[in-house]
Amino acid sequence: MFTNRLPIAKLAGAVVALAAVIAAVMLSINWNGAEDSTAAPKIDNLLNIMIVVSSIVFAIVVVALAYALIAFRAKPGDESDGEPIHGNTRLEIAWTLIPTIVVLAAGGWSWKVLNEIEETDANHLTVAVFSQQYAWSFGYPGKEYAYSQGVLHVPVNRQVVFKMHSQDVIHSFWVPEWRIKKDNVPGITTTAVVTPTKTGTYQLICTELCGFGHASMRAKVIVQSQSAFDKWVEGLKEKVPPDLMVSVKQDTETNPEPLERAVAE
Ligand code: CUA
Repeated sequence: MFTNRLPIAKLAGAVVALAAVIAAVMLSINWNGAEDSTAAPKIDNLLNIMIVVSSIVFAIVVVALAYALIAFRAKPGDESDGEPIHGNTRLEIAWTLIPTIVVLAAGGWSWKVLNEIEETDANHLTVAVFSQQYAWSFGYPGKEYAYSQGVLHVPVNRQVVFKMHSQDVIHSFWVPEWRIKKDNVPGITTTAVVTPTKTGTYQLICTELCGFGHASMRAKVIVQSQSAFDKWVEGLKEKVPPDLMVSVKQDTETNPEPLERAVAE
């Protein structure tokens, strides 16, 4: 067994040092930009933890590979075969079990964070989102399905439940500063829950390749005070057109939340 000859302390030191450097560099980069919803810090936190875990795994692999390449390289002119060995059962159990535990823990934590994000409060505002090649429009069930095209207004610090519908192909709803991304799928209603925490102007970006105009499929998002929002909704002249209402009603059949509740609000 060559195990006894391994300089364990030095290798462990190299792993710790390399992992620390990689993690420090990766964590210093602001990957996702401003955090303007309650979900954003939670998601970024999760990402940061995954960066640290990945840095450790990467460092272990790189240090082991580098050590194997240097310590066990063939002497010049050595044409003999490698030593026939049967592997190491204990080592194989360890390198199967540990990653399994790490992945399950990461999955469990993500599940917990997602549950927190998707928990709805009683005071939420429902907004219907309509997507089609290549435009966004919005309906406000609380205001008899008042309708706006290309511009979404929402109040700040209030939970918004988006009920999403697509008229043609799959689109995807994404406001980067809110982090939340959700596919809009023809025939069913999908739901995203967001609580914006800052007022301002944002961009809603389609983040599912949906055809020729995908890159320009955007809408303006304005997060404002509840009173400014109420005033804006009051001022909307149009109602959601009947063909879009058809999709709202149709989709309801596969939607766990009945239409009455959405309309009643
Ligand atoms: Cu719609 Cu991309």
